[in-house]
Amino acid sequence: MSKTHSYKLVLLGESAVGKSSITLRFVRNEFTESQEPTIGAAFLARNITCQDYTVRFEIWDTAGQERYHSLAPMYYRGAPAAVVVYDVTDRNSYEKAKKWVQQLKEEQRETTTIALAGNKRDLPNHKVTIQEAQEYAVAEGLIFHETSALSNYGITELFKELADKLPKK
Ligand code: GTP
Ligand code: MG
Repeated sequence: MSKTHSYKLVLLGESAVGKSSITLRFVRNEFTESQEPTIGAAFLARNITCQDYTVRFEIWDTAGQERYHSLAPMYYRGAPAAVVVYDVTDRNSYEKAKKWVQQLKEEQRETTTIALAGNKRDLPNHKVTIQEAQEYAVAEGLIFHETSALSNYGITELFKELADKLPKK
């Protein structure tokens, strides 16, 4: 039996960018157009098998609505991994994502591995280019993928890269 490494992972980002949809696609391979806004936070877990070990992600999918903002530290505290999500068709959500990255870096030294996800790639009229987000991600040392929870694009790659980069005890 291979060794299992367990990591707490938090998803952060503005409401409706698709945090729950990414989580449900990753954990259950499901997607629904009628995904309801999260209340507080939801917990889900999934193991992925890497070459000679298993990574278990214990995922806190937080609520992005403003009124829940102050709860976020409860969920990111002690989390070595974070996925910060924006919607590629919504510039404001990208600016919010950058603020989350800044907040994690300032307040949460334990979060060593941060991924930025530009979600809803399937939609037309992108307001944030891959190039712009890529440059920002490189400058900040983040993993970056454009994703679509709807078409199941980039999500496996995102979590695989997190699993690869997270420090193994
Ligand atoms: P909060 O829980 O309020 O923070 O929102 P959230 O970030 O969890 O967003 P959620 O997953 O609930 O998705 C919001 C809406 O966007 C839902 O109607 C989803 O079906 C839709 N959605 C999520 N991901 C995608 C995607 O990749 N493409 C498209 N076209 N729609 C998506
Ligand atoms: Mg949600």
